[in-house]
Amino acid sequence: MGAFLLTLTTILGGAATLASADCTREGLLAAANSYVAAVTAGKIDGLNLATTNFTYQENNKKADIKKGVLSQPLKIDLNRSTADTVACASYTMIISSTGAKPYVLAAQLRHPGNDTTVISTIDIIAATTGSLFFNAKQTLGYIQKEDWGTLAPENRPSRELLKKVGDAYLDMWTDAKAADTIPWGTQCERVEGSALTRPCGGSLPHGGSTKPNGNRRYVIDETVGSVDVLCSFDSLGNYPDSHEVRVEAGKVKYVHTITV
Ligand SMILES: *[C@@H]1O[C@H](CO)[C@@H](O)[C@H](O)[C@H]1NC(C)=O
Ligand SMILES: *[C@@H]1O[C@H](CO)[C@@H](O)[C@H](O)[C@H]1NC(C)=O
Ligand SMILES: *[C@@H]1O[C@H](CO)[C@@H](O)[C@H](O)[C@H]1NC(C)=O
Repeated sequence: MGAFLLTLTTILGGAATLASADCTREGLLAAANSYVAAVTAGKIDGLNLATTNFTYQENNKKADIKKGVLSQPLKIDLNRSTADTVACASYTMIISSTGAKPYVLAAQLRHPGNDTTVISTIDIIAATTGSLFFNAKQTLGYIQKEDWGTLAPENRPSRELLKKVGDAYLDMWTDAKAADTIPWGTQCERVEGSALTRPCGGSLPHGGSTKPNGNRRYVIDETVGSVDVLCSFDSLGNYPDSHEVRVEAGKVKYVHTITV
């Protein structure tokens, strides 16, 4: 009887572990949507923040979430989220162009132990008037026209390729050969702040800086071919930065940079 109970406990315990083990896409996108709602409302009440060890970062600095960009309501013109079930993290881009203070926000959310109902980290790059090439209306105009639809399975890049492309992109300023390792698409578009370059593989850096772009945080979503990397853009001088790249059928299609 004792042995039987022990076995039963082990089985039940195992089942409970399995049930909470998976980080799901639905859970990640639900959490990302709670963040979009918080930005709209300018209130954090609807965010289920971890009660211990919650981290809020704004422009690469630890900050008080109650005093940051989430403390005012914003009218959202565009939001788009990607989900990384391996890192249990999401990335959300928000453009707010019509308020007193326009914003373009790049946010990564992270969750503890694959539990998407709890948010352990909110990490935001918040570009506004005065940020690099900032013009939210112009950025919105370009990005609204892009197609970020789910890719057919045969056109999805692997996680490894996305990580490699994200890293090679950020390495171009320090590694003279990095640009040539990136599979540029012929129809590729690059929107840096509000500056459009097409095709995006033209006029690229080939080394020159000795300081690598550091402190990289990744969100990778193969289903839409996206890698977003938040970093310190140290190669040109410690700028808080987000680079997102979309890869379709093995080739780079879009690049977005948000730099403060
Ligand atoms: C979290 O979920 C992912 C994807 O389902 C899985 O690969 C990983 O092992 C899980 N990690 C933990 C700590 O349960
Ligand atoms: C607290 O958060 C930091 C950074 O987010 C992490 O490295 C650390 O493991 C966390 N500690 C606990 C006890 O969860
Ligand atoms: C966010 O984007 C989704 C998908 O385009 C849209 O349905 C939703 O209304 C947007 N949310 C806000 C607050 O604008």
